Amino acid sequence: DWTMAAFRDQAIEEIRRKVGTGRVICGLSGGVDSSVAAVLIHEAIGDQLTCIFVDHGLLRLNEAEEVVAMFRDHYNIPLVHVRAEDTFLDALEGESDPEVKRKTIGRLFVETFEAEAKKLGGADFLAQGTLYPDVIESVSFSGGPSVTIKSHHNVGGLPERMKMKLVEPLRELFKDEVRILGKELGLPAHFIGRQPFPGPGLAIRCPGGVTREKLRILREADAIYLDEIRKAGLYDAIWQAFAVLLPVQTVGVMGDGRTYEFACALRAVTSVDGMTADFYPFDMDFLGRAATRIINEVKGINRVVYDVTSKPPGTIEWE
Ligand code: XMP
Repeated sequence: DWTMAAFRDQAIEEIRRKVGTGRVICGLSGGVDSSVAAVLIHEAIGDQLTCIFVDHGLLRLNEAEEVVAMFRDHYNIPLVHVRAEDTFLDALEGESDPEVKRKTIGRLFVETFEAEAKKLGGADFLAQGTLYPDVIESVSFSGGPSVTIKSHHNVGGLPERMKMKLVEPLRELFKDEVRILGKELGLPAHFIGRQPFPGPGLAIRCPGGVTREKLRILREADAIYLDEIRKAGLYDAIWQAFAVLLPVQTVGVMGDGRTYEFACALRAVTSVDGMTADFYPFDMDFLGRAATRIINEVKGINRVVYDVTSKPPGTIEWE
């Protein structure tokens, strides 16, 4: 795409002009936006960029390893992998209120990020993968204090606190354009095509209290579900698909024994921008196959249900 090639070259020039010989820190979430921003900025200024990846222990199966491998080994981008699982999970212990969970994660994210940035000796610029819709969103709420819908991604207040200027090279782009730019920058197609994943991660897919054991169960179920979706060739037709571990144990029978384990909900929606969504109309064979595999292969789940709620009135995530 020649247009995006031109955008890329222009963006690289602009980043160089803005940053000069300064140092830039970029928070990587593992998502497409921050990844594309990081690779673009690295092309522009090389090792003046350091990425900080705060691993909060709430990512999907193998996700952290994949992010680290891609950035450090494939792109050779200086990357600090902050293993903060204990910090986050200890703080979440016993907490079941969705808003408190989100706020706890958001606060710890900023604190962890800030501490790591200090260890690096600080930086002149903070890079973010802010997109055009994010810009519009914050403008349309600008009557009062800014309303944060995506509390994790928006590292609000951090630039001022750390006296850093912002570098946001994707500010003019929509999501589909970011994907084209990512392709232009050589990011692998499977990475660029990844479905969105919320900042608070699996914490908001474990309604109620979050424990390490629940996260283990949820990760395994989610991976099987997505594996079945990929095998059925449906991954790209779906905006987001994921498992939710319900805080409910149900009675079942396995072999000649009684089981008493968790129920798991499967969610899949189509959407253009996440603002509205329709549940995905899987055929029953598919759902049966996914459910059977999850119940047979995941220790801790003995029942699977499918969520047929659209947005509105539901939200995409359960919390
Ligand atoms: P809801 O559940 O509000 O989600 O219908 C809409 C979209 O936003 C994602 N989402 C979040 N992303 N931080 C994020 O970065 C968050 O706190 C958050 N909450 C929801 C959700 O996955 C969906 O794509």
